Amino acid sequence: MTTLLHLDSSARPGTSANQSFGSHTRRLAARFVAGWRAAHPDAAVIHRDLGAEPPQHVTGEWIHAAFTKPEQRLPWMDAVLRESDQLIDELCAADVIVAGVPMYNFNVPAQFKAYIDNIVRVGRTFGFDRARAGAPYWPLLDQDRKSFVILSSRGDHGYSQGQRIAHMNHVEPSITTALRYIGITDVHGAAVEFDEFGDGRLRASIVAAESQVDELVAQLGAQRHPASDS
Ligand SMILES: Cc1cc2nc3c(=O)[nH]c(=O)nc-3n(C[C@H](O)[C@H](O)[C@H](O)COP(=O)(O)O)c2cc1C
Repeated sequence: MTTLLHLDSSARPGTSANQSFGSHTRRLAARFVAGWRAAHPDAAVIHRDLGAEPPQHVTGEWIHAAFTKPEQRLPWMDAVLRESDQLIDELCAADVIVAGVPMYNFNVPAQFKAYIDNIVRVGRTFGFDRARAGAPYWPLLDQDRKSFVILSSRGDHGYSQGQRIAHMNHVEPSITTALRYIGITDVHGAAVEFDEFGDGRLRASIVAAESQVDELVAQLGAQRHPASDS
């Protein structure tokens, strides 16, 4: 049985599949989840809506607590880290993570950055030992073979690798850097473009992204269940 963690982070609540001002990233992520459920009826799905309920931002208390050894933490420190622990527990339980992440000002929305800040945590998802020569930091999730799918959307176009304004896209690159740091290296994605034009190019971009989503469902499913496909 696989566990799929479904993250949404658009500030727009509905999906563009059934609402004229709905979110494209919610649409793509919902399609991935529906495809995954259809292919793997026994899969567990955890849904976390970071757009509707943003995680807490890192505070001075959070830093103090996170950098105190677990056995030395005071009760207030455990309380401050509770949400981060829960987000990390969900991530650890997941085999596949699908995240809807729009582009806001060339980067991820603040609510998604708050998620990253809560799951990249010393002692839980990465190790740190300043006495360790050469490699004081190391990933803690690198044995889990997790796959991460980033489903994005942007108003303009030309942000994909090798295209006109790829250098201005800090969405997929920043997420991938943080994931690699904690040991998640199997990262995939698809994106809608032209949202702000709202013309045939947007419609074509949605069709192309949806087809990439379907391919990813099949590809990652075969990766997880090679025997059942033969
Ligand atoms: C606050 C904000 C900032 C945005 N910044 C950019 C941007 O830097 N570049 C861009 O191409 N589109 C930008 N857009 C457009 C969104 O990326 C686009 O509407 C996308 O479809 C939003 O994702 P969603 O459909 O899942 O809500 C921005 C939209 C908002 C609301």
